[in-house]
Amino acid sequence: MIEIKSEREIQLMKEAGRVVALCLEAMKDAVKPGVTTMELNNICEKIIVENGCVPSCKGYEGFPATICASVNEVVVHGIPSNKQKLKKGDIIDVDLVCAYKGYHADACYTYKVGEVNPKVEELLDVTQKALYEGISKVRAGVHLGDVEAAIGDYIKPYGYGIIDSFTGHGIGRKMHEEPNIFNFGTKGTGPILEEGMVLCIEPMVAMGTHKIRVLSDGWTAVTIDKKPAAHFEHTIVVRKDGYEIITQL
Ligand code: MF3
Ligand code: CO
Repeated sequence: MIEIKSEREIQLMKEAGRVVALCLEAMKDAVKPGVTTMELNNICEKIIVENGCVPSCKGYEGFPATICASVNEVVVHGIPSNKQKLKKGDIIDVDLVCAYKGYHADACYTYKVGEVNPKVEELLDVTQKALYEGISKVRAGVHLGDVEAAIGDYIKPYGYGIIDSFTGHGIGRKMHEEPNIFNFGTKGTGPILEEGMVLCIEPMVAMGTHKIRVLSDGWTAVTIDKKPAAHFEHTIVVRKDGYEIITQL
């Protein structure tokens, strides 16, 4: 069952979403050659705590940090480290979730570290546009498959790998709620969206194969061909005539 949130609950999620957005905004300046992924983690954690929120990932099924910091071929769930320094030409996906009064919001953005290869730039551009293609379809009365198809149909002509081992999801009192949201699909299929549903839409797209494997740390998911992957995400409220993105300023 996909939960419908009350306006009161949505207000709390909006506050969490505002704080997630503050963190992602801070990352625009913080991501640069020489910074470590642990420094990025600590900047976000400070913003979250100072704004009265709780970092949701820290301790979630044993995940040790506030952000997922996924560099280059890491698709999702990279663990921040003092030893990992970013260098020019890298890309890094900062994915973070925080909670306000028990209600979560979740977003991520893939940043360039200085200048990157134009092919990588295109990968980021297509992945971000695919997110907005999906979001643009959201309103009460449409099928979830309409949203999924819009994402996949946008990506397919580029020949990229669309990751299928991870999906978007509903969100609320739990970080992951029903439904799973794939990044490809068929129009006119799946549940019908209703006002007050809150969804995380998050295309994950790889330059080469969509196949991933998880490293021995139990978290870090990498493309098996080691080619880079991008990931963009927002938390969205379904409205009668459209949508509200709650993880942007
Ligand atoms: N945004 C990620 C997701 O939707 C957050 C999970 S991080 C975890 O899966 F480490 F807590 F799992
Ligand atoms: Co998510």
